[in-house]
Amino acid sequence: MNFEVTPLKAPLGAIVRGWQPDEPLSVTDKENISQALRKHIVLVFRGNPQPRDEALIAFAQEFGNLVKGSEWFQDQDPKPEILRVNNIYDADGIPQGTGGAEKLGWHADYSYVPRVGKESFLNAVELPANPPRTSFCNQYRALETLPDKTVEKLRKLRAFHSITKYISGDESPMDDKPEKPGSAVTREARAGFLAKRERNRELGIAKPDIPQAEHPLIMKHPETGREILYISPQIIKAIIGLPREESDTLIKELTDHSLREENIYHHDWQVGDTVMFDTLGSLHARESWNPAERRVMRQLSTML
Ligand SMILES: [Fe+2]
Repeated sequence: MNFEVTPLKAPLGAIVRGWQPDEPLSVTDKENISQALRKHIVLVFRGNPQPRDEALIAFAQEFGNLVKGSEWFQDQDPKPEILRVNNIYDADGIPQGTGGAEKLGWHADYSYVPRVGKESFLNAVELPANPPRTSFCNQYRALETLPDKTVEKLRKLRAFHSITKYISGDESPMDDKPEKPGSAVTREARAGFLAKRERNRELGIAKPDIPQAEHPLIMKHPETGREILYISPQIIKAIIGLPREESDTLIKELTDHSLREENIYHHDWQVGDTVMFDTLGSLHARESWNPAERRVMRQLSTML
């Protein structure tokens, strides 16, 4: 394929034209995309035909094993690798995807899983009149711009990541902080998750529980060896071994340091955009939108 990669006038990100979703990627195509992703962190595939579910899966799994995201969100989807991110509900009020039009706070996909998200893919199928922006923050740069002394301290530290208590009401000893507004799991999504879990129980369908995990604060990208400040602000609950107050203060300092405009790209969506991003090396967040209007997205992630 003839890819044309144009860097955005932003601290990160590039537009990619020339993707043919129904054609398999050659070794060179894959290498070109991987190189562009390493350089730009966020790639916006635009101007190509809208990929079918199968084509989207085939494309994404070229880069790694896919998370069965929709299973964790209790969906019945013939393609469990695709997480339906939308605000569509059936006649019984069961969400047909993640549910909700609320603001989604800064996070890295699947940071609460032992094998975290590596790349993520987000495709716009249907958008409201004023589509909410998705913003991306460069966590390589966040680490590079920390003082050496802080980096040395962080090298010894690990953090606990979880959405379990919030989403299901389960208890966890390290998870007693009240949820902040703009959580990585919205109130509506939580209600939807519980409704779907109840429905699955009635249908006798068992779905896997949402996991929790510990990760170092400094992670290394397995393919490039580049180091990342890995914090996932709405999912990280505590830094292991630090007193609560010290842990909260350090998480806030690292979050504030990361989320400076010079590290951020704000994406304005068009229908048909497929945004591929290095979810290990970045954070992302989404604005809210008018809940009376539909927003339909497809999301996939490879795992570490
Ligand atoms: Fe996400």
